[in-house]
Amino acid sequence: MEIVILDDPGAIARLAADTIAALLHEKPAAVLGLATGSSPLSLYDEVAARCARGELSLAEARGFTLDEYVGLGAEHPERYRNVIDREFTSRVDIARDAVHGPDGLAEDVPAACAAYEEAIADAGGVDLQILGIGTDGHIGFNEPGSSLASRTRIKTLTRQTRLDNARFFGGDLDAVPTHCLTQGLGTIMAARHIVLIATGEEKARAVHELAEGPVSASWPATVLQHHPHVSVLLDDGAASHLRMAGYYRETYAAKPGWQGL
Ligand code: F6R
Repeated sequence: MEIVILDDPGAIARLAADTIAALLHEKPAAVLGLATGSSPLSLYDEVAARCARGELSLAEARGFTLDEYVGLGAEHPERYRNVIDREFTSRVDIARDAVHGPDGLAEDVPAACAAYEEAIADAGGVDLQILGIGTDGHIGFNEPGSSLASRTRIKTLTRQTRLDNARFFGGDLDAVPTHCLTQGLGTIMAARHIVLIATGEEKARAVHELAEGPVSASWPATVLQHHPHVSVLLDDGAASHLRMAGYYRETYAAKPGWQGL
């Protein structure tokens, strides 16, 4: 796991966008794993800006979102399918029908989850997965206690996650759905490269557990310690509980400029 601590928040977005650009240069039809939430927003802004300047094209790329709320109507602005369209798909040249998400309105939930797993596999798997992390250590919506081998399924959101996300629902906790469909930890682990972005001190405990804690379903993101290629991009606040922050900073500062994530 490579930990990169960058004082300039714009630098996180640029570094992650460079990684996407390098992947698309090598593999124009790459499969991107797309997170929603606030953590990747500046990355999506950066990718959209590069597309607008003609420096980057996602015309052949495909995308799979991590998760979806259960029961939000098709037009609901916080339905993740709509969020990803608004924040990403509509601002870049990726084909709209090349971006997929779990169906939060499915009547047959197990069948919808199995179909999602199959769609990812049929696309050849995810080349680059963008992740955020919850204050309780979730990735996707794999809440504490999730099986480290789980695949796409329905999960109950914790009260903490619903409180954290109430800001997207006008501060109304009751408006935040109680359930979601999410890629499992096993699904996320199958991605070839994972880039996790965390900013702000409220993420510091989860980031410490992710990088330095014991692997445990109590902090689901710790499963990433078993993945061979994970890049964790942090600002000072999110890095503030890391015991080995000095070492991570020195290591990254000494890294040759030509070497990407
Ligand atoms: C979103 C997702 C979640 C978020 C996490 C952090 O698709 O899967 O794991 O990444 O809840 O959310 P933000 O980025 O809003 O702090």
